[in-house]
Amino acid sequence: MSDHRESPALQRAVPGIRSEPGTTADAGLRPESRPKAVAGDRRQARRESGTAAGVSRRGILYGGAAAVAGAVATAGRATPAQAGSVADGTAVEAFHGPHQAGIATSPQAHAVFLGLDLRRGADRDSVSRMMRLLTDDARRLTQGRPALADTEPELAALPARLTVTFGFGPGLFAAVGGKAPVEDLPGFKIDKLEDRWSGGDLLVQICADDPLTVAHALRMIVKDARSFADVRWTQRGFRRAAHTQRPGLTQRNVMGQLDGTVNPAPGTPDFERAVWITGGGPLHGGTTLVLRRIRAELESWDAADVVAKEFTVGRRLATGAPLTGRQEHDEPDFARLGTSGLPMISEYAHIRRARVEDPGMRIFRRVYNYDEGVSERGTADSGLLFASYQADIDRQFVPVQRRLAEADLLNEWTIPIGSAVFAVPPGCGPDGWIGQTLLA
Ligand code: HEM
Repeated sequence: MSDHRESPALQRAVPGIRSEPGTTADAGLRPESRPKAVAGDRRQARRESGTAAGVSRRGILYGGAAAVAGAVATAGRATPAQAGSVADGTAVEAFHGPHQAGIATSPQAHAVFLGLDLRRGADRDSVSRMMRLLTDDARRLTQGRPALADTEPELAALPARLTVTFGFGPGLFAAVGGKAPVEDLPGFKIDKLEDRWSGGDLLVQICADDPLTVAHALRMIVKDARSFADVRWTQRGFRRAAHTQRPGLTQRNVMGQLDGTVNPAPGTPDFERAVWITGGGPLHGGTTLVLRRIRAELESWDAADVVAKEFTVGRRLATGAPLTGRQEHDEPDFARLGTSGLPMISEYAHIRRARVEDPGMRIFRRVYNYDEGVSERGTADSGLLFASYQADIDRQFVPVQRRLAEADLLNEWTIPIGSAVFAVPPGCGPDGWIGQTLLA
């Protein structure tokens, strides 16, 4: 096979990868370097997928613009805005229970992840006092009641499904003199980790459907944590605004992909097994969290065409269907070969590399987007706050991350720049506090 058939972008992602004629493997960034047969396949793929790629830039500029504008206007008329018709800021998520809220909870629209470092001299006593205080704040605020000494009690009135979830990092266990159930991840060759997004002794994950509620809860928690711990980082994330799409549908991430299709579903036995720690110890009913801040190189992603994007993940952009199927939840057929005799879902496609066959051993992804604006030169500071919950980091998360770090086409466009791990204690009852089983 001649060199001109190789896609520069895909090759950089997986050294040694060579594309094959008649497959989408050579769907790279330079159409002029592609053989005719493949360009034909690409046109065919576009016709089939019916994506926006079929609308040429020129078409939009001359004449197409009117049609597009018309379509937008019609879409607008089809669902007239009904301001004030939905007001459920009072919606509440239960705080008490065997598990902390904010994990199996259907993801709220807004999140802030707060990483704190304990002050020097912190010990079991002071950490317990802090956790009693913070639990009290969380218990009140999530139920729409002001925190003790709340400086803006009115802001607590609309909890908008607020959840406050706590996690303990390795440093917290060191401070209280216990054996840490979690340790930092091994290094991966794709990592470009920055201190300002990594580590932390205590995690507070605050999620709600309203950003003002999140801001208020964050402020109250930080105020009460201040005498025990310093803020190490805050990471803000978002999903679709509440009521933008039907609950339960898979959402798109900033890269435009349907993200979350294959994920343990809360309430199922697979989810219970994959996420909650059992065995009757102090973490029984708890879990672990890996939080990775993954930057997305949106400018070069924009330069890739739809076929390359779909080939990278192994799923269609429009529908989320696997390349071997028609609908989002069709089972991918990893054995199916294309006309060239190569797998239709590449050996290096994200979904093949990330696949775990046993559904009870999968990780649970509760992912948020971040978008911190654009640089002067127009470069996006955007990506994913990749929050992964699992009962056991070493058995569930690490093997997947290792396979992805070795070879995943998506690595061409994504860079992990932050990493932190936490043990997430179980929930508590009305008289208890989060961390009691570990600290009391
Ligand atoms: C910016 C980084 C990432 C992006 C944009 C991304 C995007 C996606 C997309 C679009 C899918 C297919 C739809 C779905 O099943 O949700 C997917 C699947 C998946 N991803 Fe990622 N992902 C990223 C990073 C990661 C990381 C770091 C891990 C784990 C270490 C991971 C694990 C998985 C798993 C387990 C699946 C399901 C695979 C299966 O079909 O069995 N992803 N991801």
